[in-house]
Amino acid sequence: MTQRYYLTTPIYYVNDDPHIGHAYTTLACDALARFKRLDGFDVKFLTGTDEHGQKVAKSAADAGVDPKAFTDRVSQNFRDLADALNFSHDDFIRTTEDRHKTASQAIWKAIAAGKSPKGNDNIYLASYPGWYAVRDEAFYSEDELTTGADGKKIAPSGAEVEWVEEPSYFFRLSAWQDRLLEFYDANPDFILPKTRRNEVVSFVSGGLKDLSVSRTTFKWGVPVPGDEDHIMYVWLDALTNYITGVGFPETDSGEYATFWPADLHMVGKDILRFHAVYWPAFLMGAGLAPPRRVFAHGWWTNEGQKISKSLGNVIDPVELVDKYGLDQVRYFLLREVPFGNDGDFAHQAMVNRMNGELANDYGNLAQRVLSMINKNCQGKVSEPGNMTGDDEGFLGTAHGLIGQVRDAMEVQAFHEGLEAVWAMVRAANAYIDGQAPWKLAKEDPARMGTVLYLLAETIRHLAILTQPFMPDASARLLDQLAVPEDARTFACLGPDHALKAGMELPKPEGVFPRYENGEKAEEGD
Ligand code: MSP
Repeated sequence: MTQRYYLTTPIYYVNDDPHIGHAYTTLACDALARFKRLDGFDVKFLTGTDEHGQKVAKSAADAGVDPKAFTDRVSQNFRDLADALNFSHDDFIRTTEDRHKTASQAIWKAIAAGKSPKGNDNIYLASYPGWYAVRDEAFYSEDELTTGADGKKIAPSGAEVEWVEEPSYFFRLSAWQDRLLEFYDANPDFILPKTRRNEVVSFVSGGLKDLSVSRTTFKWGVPVPGDEDHIMYVWLDALTNYITGVGFPETDSGEYATFWPADLHMVGKDILRFHAVYWPAFLMGAGLAPPRRVFAHGWWTNEGQKISKSLGNVIDPVELVDKYGLDQVRYFLLREVPFGNDGDFAHQAMVNRMNGELANDYGNLAQRVLSMINKNCQGKVSEPGNMTGDDEGFLGTAHGLIGQVRDAMEVQAFHEGLEAVWAMVRAANAYIDGQAPWKLAKEDPARMGTVLYLLAETIRHLAILTQPFMPDASARLLDQLAVPEDARTFACLGPDHALKAGMELPKPEGVFPRYENGEKAEEGD
């Protein structure tokens, strides 16, 4: 039976201008989704936009438009971003869609119908007097706040808070503490990286307060079933997108039955608590299974500075792609920083990786080998001939690469997956230098044939494995090795689908441009 894999990005606040942080979360998911598809999994990859709540209602009012018309317009920005970055999501959800209203009301009803582990109602009506940060769409208690220079109260995230006093339904989160701790205990990899897991466990161990899950002072949201004066708290509505995407409330058949529980919710570290505490508690409250994993990645700064609209240093991912190239940006973002850590975007670091690792190491390797085949072997794959022990060891390393990359991807260590591939790129460059096939052309053409064959076969492995990270460049390399489109999955790695001697190859051309004098240079050497 085909194994399935369901992964999601956060849904993005529809009123924000898409920036590098948004692109990063989706890119990580995209690389993983592509990897899993190539590895034979039936993948569902969901992304979308978070369109309800006070923050969006306020932006719409500021723009002088009705919220629906406003969100219809701005949600397009995120679909454009997904197209510009060549994301391969299977579904794009908008929380203003009818299917989502149905799912949100259904989960509310399921939670409200259930009892907490302490035997009392999961949801009860009371009144919320307290602090609320519209920017985070989050409630804060007094002891979490600091006072800014202007005397205003500030949340730990830096967002301003305002005093809110209104009738509200509460979710009895306090009663779910032990169940959550048991769940974390039984599923040690539920939250990754480990340091983030420890933070969450210590937060929950410290005790949980009941959570306000409805608002009455504005209308832009999903009505609470049975009490239309209330709309659902935007985070309960937003988190539900992950099950709307698989057809909830239909649970017995269809996509929910196939894909839930999700294998991975990818999120930034700022929204981990919502995903690793509230969401599993809501799901358990509704009698549904929690997801298998939440991975919290780090945040990017720009040349050492926090990225913010007010500082005017927001990085537009589309501009970045225009400047350096899509595959280059994809590679940089996933290679530069151990996934999970914070990272800094610096022009020089981008150029160093683009010129050093892509153009010089990988690009040059492919160019040298393919040009030599073109020149010295009449453009046909050479005969492998007699292999030495060293040759076999070299090829064996290429065959073993998928295992290493798979292990890294299993724990979302994208940087390690790429490092394993680059260790092979470096080994191949060392092999070519050591064997000097340009000398063998005259001295020992048969040996030259063997060396070029092994290198071409290694490049086939490299190009198949770099597809999830750099889809375009990898496809162009595979075209140059005449690898048929249906022979590019990981099942085709290894000797059974090896290049065939005598096969004609197209004329080689460079696929990794250098960045010189302020712009992308001509591709190739
Ligand atoms: N709408 C909520 C998510 C609801 S999911 C049920 C939200 N949206 S967001 O648009 O503000 O953020 C989306 C993602 O972008 C988050 O995972 C966040 O961590 C990420 N990033 C925003 N700025 C970032 C950086 N500077 N660097 C890396 N990622 C950051 O939160």
